[in-house]
Amino acid sequence: MSDKNYTLTGESGSADLPSYSGTLGPDVADVRKLYAQQNIFTFDPGFASTASCRSEITFIDGDEGVLLYRGYPVEQLAKNSSFIEVCYLLLYGELPTKAELDKFDNNIRTHTMINETMLRLFNGFHHDAHPMAMVSGVVGSMSAFYHETMDIHNARHREIFSHRIIAKLPTIAAAAYKHSLGQPFVYPRNDLDYSSNLLQMFFSVPAEEYEIDSVAAEAIDLLLILHADHEQNCSTSTVRLAGSSGTNPYSAIAAGIAALWGPAHGGANEAVLRMLEQIGSAKNIDEYVAKAKDKDDPFRLMGFGHRVYKNFDPRATIIRDMCHKVLAKLGRDDDPLFELALELEQVALKDEYFVEKKLYPNVDFYSGIIYRALGFQPSMFTVMFAIARTVGWVSHWQEMITDPEHRIGRPRQLYVGPAARDYIDVAKR
Ligand code: CMC
Repeated sequence: MSDKNYTLTGESGSADLPSYSGTLGPDVADVRKLYAQQNIFTFDPGFASTASCRSEITFIDGDEGVLLYRGYPVEQLAKNSSFIEVCYLLLYGELPTKAELDKFDNNIRTHTMINETMLRLFNGFHHDAHPMAMVSGVVGSMSAFYHETMDIHNARHREIFSHRIIAKLPTIAAAAYKHSLGQPFVYPRNDLDYSSNLLQMFFSVPAEEYEIDSVAAEAIDLLLILHADHEQNCSTSTVRLAGSSGTNPYSAIAAGIAALWGPAHGGANEAVLRMLEQIGSAKNIDEYVAKAKDKDDPFRLMGFGHRVYKNFDPRATIIRDMCHKVLAKLGRDDDPLFELALELEQVALKDEYFVEKKLYPNVDFYSGIIYRALGFQPSMFTVMFAIARTVGWVSHWQEMITDPEHRIGRPRQLYVGPAARDYIDVAKR
């Protein structure tokens, strides 16, 4: 199984660690026996050098700006595929035949409704609750609706779970949106494709006809494809870790949604838009770039930098092109925030600090501008990311739960607290 050995030499002796080669990417040294044999842990806060699992789903080469889903370049999928086909690819590992795709598409379309009781949960939230809080709460509640019928060791149960959650996420997200506006909830329409249905649930009202804009549906589908998976990122690792205890997978997905919300992760798309509004005008760019470089200022250029990409994020380039298309179609190609974003990108790309640290625009730099042009409020942007990433989370959860090597996730630590000491009675402290 091991291709070669990697020798680690330290004060307590040396250890021969088996190492493995993947299809692509760096080799890994297997440290699992290190503690038993050498009484030493590895130390890697943020897991920058740690492979937590074997995975066949997604590959990223951060230096070359490469992103592959099951081996297929994301650029090719963005150009030729649909989100539903990408969901099938991520879940099952291969592109579907026409018959497989039709069956899968039909399965997703016929799982879109949610239990009416679940809808009533929204009444427990104040109208200005952040939609990510509502969506993670309501998705977590799905574990109550589907507990007895969800045996994680049953392959059919797992499959139904995966279809159900992919199908229902847009319905739950739209319900959160309608709740925040005080508008009536709009039911899903199974005659529509995934992205068109999403648009009608968000933007139609019972009082009038709603015409689905094909460019808007195309833009949504593209954004969903580009956000669908990204290997062992923070929220995916959260889903794997929560799921590793054998918990109900709906709860594990709710944990992933909570992790995604943070501004260093999926919350960045909302933060980019708020940052652009704060910068306000091109004349203020230099001031904000200086703030981002100042070590004593917590401000960062949102939408810039990535743990893995040290080159252009391939998704950002595709999204920037879509941004031009959507704004032109809507007659808003002079959108001042888009112009500001283009200018800010140019300034940062030429700035020594950003060049030296290899900080490039990431997927979230332009996505918010598209969502805004389509009519989404900034607080909904990360919810859109969650809808897309659900298939990635589910695919990784499935892979983990069926992996014979999987064990409960349980990291170790370097303890730096007090050594053992005796309790002192409160009167004597
Ligand atoms: N603006 C200014 N400086 C930055 C930025 C930024 N956006 N990103 C990183 N740096 C600096 C950072 O201060 C550090 O400098 P130094 O080496 O002098 O201490 C260096 O670059 C490396 O940064 P890091 O925080 O150690 O890198 P990381 O891999 O831990 O963090 C990141 C990656 C994405 C959290 C970070 O680049 C960031 O906070 N970016 C802004 C938030 C953002 O856009 N997030 C979306 C990520 S893409 C979508 C997703 O995957 O969810």
